[in-house]
Amino acid sequence: MDAPLDLLLEGAAEIFDGEGILDADTIGVRDGKIAWVGRGAPANIDADTRRVSAKGALVTPGLVECHTHLVFAGDRADEYASRAAGAGYLEIAAAGGGIAKTMRATRRATLDQLCALALPRLDRLLDFGVTTAEIKSGYGLSVEAELKMLRAIRQLDATHPIDLVATFLGAHSVPPELRGTTTGRADYLDIVINEMLPAVAAQGLAEFCDIFVEQGAFTLADAERLFKAGLKHGLRPKIHAEQLTCNHGAALAARMGAISADHLEHLDEAGVEALAEAGTVAVLLPGASVFLGDDQRPPTAALRAAGVPIALSTDCNPGTCMTENILLMLTLGMSRLGMRPIEVLQAVTMNAAAAIGRSDSAGRLMVGRAADIVVFDVPSHRHLPYHFAVPCVWRVFKGGELVRSQAARA
Ligand code: NIG
Ligand code: FE
Repeated sequence: MDAPLDLLLEGAAEIFDGEGILDADTIGVRDGKIAWVGRGAPANIDADTRRVSAKGALVTPGLVECHTHLVFAGDRADEYASRAAGAGYLEIAAAGGGIAKTMRATRRATLDQLCALALPRLDRLLDFGVTTAEIKSGYGLSVEAELKMLRAIRQLDATHPIDLVATFLGAHSVPPELRGTTTGRADYLDIVINEMLPAVAAQGLAEFCDIFVEQGAFTLADAERLFKAGLKHGLRPKIHAEQLTCNHGAALAARMGAISADHLEHLDEAGVEALAEAGTVAVLLPGASVFLGDDQRPPTAALRAAGVPIALSTDCNPGTCMTENILLMLTLGMSRLGMRPIEVLQAVTMNAAAAIGRSDSAGRLMVGRAADIVVFDVPSHRHLPYHFAVPCVWRVFKGGELVRSQAARA
């Protein structure tokens, strides 16, 4: 018989495995990995097996947050107030605010300061059940400051229980010192491609290469140049596209092998087809639209009909979505995007893992996988998006270790 289990999580009301609901109510863990899933108690438990009740609760894999910008300094609370008074996102950016404002603060911060600022954000993500997260650079916009951001992500990965995945987003915005000249954007992209990318790749600081294709940011042709260079250095494309205008960036990225295309509020039919054909994950960020007061919705029904995997994420960043509440995105996925309960859960587990190249290690609850498990204080998967904006996480296990434990309801 197998060695005794270290941990038995028993009596769950429902176990969602990343894809669907299992016919099971108990999970056994040994050596940090899931060793058994079934009903009742298995034979290989002994006096040393720690038994933890999940009675009446929903059990899921550790959640995967697949799109954040949570390493940054400063804040943009003033811009949020200006927007409420009528100023537009692109208008604020054109006046030197927006990403440039965060860039100035981020350049001034030391690596240790950036880590200290990011740690409580990661702690809050863990509070919401996230055990794997992606973080992008993109607020440095110089060789030195982009590398500093990526090193901060690496340092955070070594010190925080959440597993981190780094994306290089040097092409987030043209820095102010290069704006306003005819060649400024091209000159900056040269620096991104010829100086930043080789350094990022040589130091193994990122797995993906992202770009913001939008009016006032970068063009389709810029994206094509960057992706070609990124692929040469082994960095797979990701893209911010169709957020504020339909710019066909998603289709381009898909054709170039992008692992995900993100935002997509203005995605057209050809874009949906390109994503489906390439197997690119659509990462939807409904929190950013709500925060910006933008009513445009991505074409969820068309994405579903075409078989495009859909992930949901906070987009946690100081400008367009200042929250770590990934559970709120489940509710917005249903109320604003017309997704179903199982779909929104798949969107923050299995599909989010696929969006960051972690299909083999995160987002699924199965024998042999690391025991990254969340116990929610709700009686079924339908209750998780339903009881919205409420922190209903009861327990979080990372590699079989209890890393969060809240008092359950009476
Ligand atoms: O994902 N779209 C561009 N990038 C971020 C916003 C960054 C910022 O405003 O600081 C986003 O929404
Ligand atoms: Fe983003």
